Amino acid sequence: MQTIAAIAELRPIIAQWRAVGERIALVPTMGNLHAGHIHLVEQARQRAQRVVASVFVNPLQFSAGEDLDAYPRTLAADQQQLAAAGTDLLFAPTEQEMYPQGRDGVTYVEVPGLSDILCGAFRPGHFRGVATVVSKLFNIVQPDLALFGAKDYQQLLVIRRMERDLNLPLEVVGIPTVREADGLAMSSRNGYLASAERQRAAQLYAVLTELSQAVRGGRRDYAALEQAAGERLVAAGFRPDYVSVRRAEDLATPDERERRLVVLAAAYLGKARLIDNLLINID
Ligand code: PAF
Repeated sequence: MQTIAAIAELRPIIAQWRAVGERIALVPTMGNLHAGHIHLVEQARQRAQRVVASVFVNPLQFSAGEDLDAYPRTLAADQQQLAAAGTDLLFAPTEQEMYPQGRDGVTYVEVPGLSDILCGAFRPGHFRGVATVVSKLFNIVQPDLALFGAKDYQQLLVIRRMERDLNLPLEVVGIPTVREADGLAMSSRNGYLASAERQRAAQLYAVLTELSQAVRGGRRDYAALEQAAGERLVAAGFRPDYVSVRRAEDLATPDERERRLVVLAAAYLGKARLIDNLLINID
């Protein structure tokens, strides 16, 4: 596996693959890789002849006071894992390469509405930063498909909407969340959990599971269910930003007839902000 930091070096390699008709998949990451990321690479391998991964801790998607400086940079370990999983090329640019004009002079991509609710309401500018870096990565790598974990469900919908609205010539593929044995969704931020917090962290999944079972069982009093779930999280030591039942398609507030739903939560446990979600199909 080659690691490349310069866009000008990447382009001719991509052009060679394209010239012989090879299908190219992109797995964008911020590094500090875990089994969930490697699963994305494996899924990419099944769908394309060439797999490009990117590692870039994107400053634009961190608000002031968030963990940009503390975010773990583990490039050597990431390279080993990516190579072992069959990645063809790792694109690991510097901030200067991605934003040569500096953070303040960036041309942004903004997906209105979807970016402003749920996590977007608690992390202003976050999804604008994500949409901007992902559209740059799409333009740099020009993949046929790009794979994203469904743990970041709102991010997945923002990227899908961007792809549709800007007529981007690629497929955005969502891959189901990979979980630890106790149900905790795999995330780079799980590394922030102290060991006592790690014991309790799977309560987030347990609370969402209970909420989704109540909905499957016929409950439609979503506000009361959200309130009760939030209280259970607080009792387990979390500081919830939100627990919400939404329409799966677009995260709108659902009415009682909606059949495809998603329950989502974001909550702090110690200094780790954990997010998770479960899809519900009512037949
Ligand atoms: O999900 C992530 O790791 C990041 O938000 C992404 C998609 C790589 C953009 O920086």
